[in-house]
Parts: sequence; structure tokens; C-alpha cells
Amino acid sequence: MSDFDALIQRVNTCTRCTLSRKRTNAVPGEGSRNADVVFVGEGPGFYEDQQGRPFVGPAGQLLDQLLASVGLDRKDVYITNMVKCRPPNNRDPLPGEIAACKPFLDEQIEMISPRVLVALGRYSFSKFFPDEPIGKARGKPRPWNGLTVYPMYHPAAALRNGNLRSALEQDFRNLALLLQEDLSSSRTEEAEQSEQLSLL
Ligand code: URA
Repeated sequence: MSDFDALIQRVNTCTRCTLSRKRTNAVPGEGSRNADVVFVGEGPGFYEDQQGRPFVGPAGQLLDQLLASVGLDRKDVYITNMVKCRPPNNRDPLPGEIAACKPFLDEQIEMISPRVLVALGRYSFSKFFPDEPIGKARGKPRPWNGLTVYPMYHPAAALRNGNLRSALEQDFRNLALLLQEDLSSSRTEEAEQSEQLSLL
């Protein structure tokens, strides 16, 4: 079994916090383990808990549409959450629950080693930059631990408040540009490195 599969199994059998007692399924995350971009939501809702998959309810349908609008598919990215088990009645996750689940998210980020982490909503954003309002930070990529964190509104917030939707669409367009820039600059670096090696 790969280290990543072992991590997923640990999430699926986790009892570190009381959310584990009421879950139908844990929701570790899904997508490509070599993804350039990891999306981090807040926590599973009703449908996610039923299916053991992230973002499969209404917010997930919007996320799929936003991905498709910039030529991405969920197979190309990795999608996960701050907490891997559903908080009862979709309440906000508590600080102790986020803390108990944090090592799993940290390990996922380390193993996937993406270029860009998209923080969906204020809970996810506060993992990277505590105490900053998402409304000001959204749409502005910034460095974090050698990666780029890209804060965006949560798709569920855009479903509740239609005014946020165009900002989210714009942020996805810019994400696609950011990924292209990142790819072309890493290709340039690779080309420079092999040129230097060939001169040795
Ligand atoms: N909202 C989230 O934050 N995560 C999900 O997986 C689904 C809805």
C-alpha cells in the first residue's frame, strides 16, 4: 500500500474527535495525487457524508462548473477539506476539530506537493492566514511555505449570495492563468538547468 493510501485509510478509520461518532463516511479527499492545484474546503456536508466524496452536493456542482469553465476537471486537481467528517447540521467546525484534523491536511499537502493551494472560504483561508477577512484577500495569490495560496469565496457562499458569483468566476479565470504561468516558468527553469548541465 502506498503512503498516500495508508493516509487515506487512517482518515477513514480516525476517531481523533467526536465528529467521527456521527459520520456515515469520512471524506478524505479525491483527485490526482500529482495535482498542481489542491482545493481546500471547509468540511463535508450531507451528500459528502453519504458518499464519502468531497463537494458532491450543490456547492460541488458549482465547483465542477467553475472548473469546467477554465478547462479543468476534478480528475486534474485534488479536492479536500479542513475537517474530514461532517459537522452535525452543517455547523461550522470547532477549533478543536480543525486542530485534530490538521495533521491529515498537512500530510496531504506535503505528499501531493502542489504549486497552488486554493483556500475556499474563510475557514480554509484562516489555516494559512489567520484573522484576515476573506473578502479583502480573495483573488490575490500569495506565498506560503514555498507554495502559492490562492484565497477564493466558498462556492456555497456564492450559492447563498449571487453577488459573489462573478468574483468567483473571475478568480477561477485567474487561477487558470496562474497555473499556466507557473508551468511555463518551471519549464523555463528546467530548460535552463539542462542547458547548464550540458555546458558542464
Ligand atoms: N462544502 C465544503 O466545504 N466541503 C465539501 O466537501 C462540501 C461542501
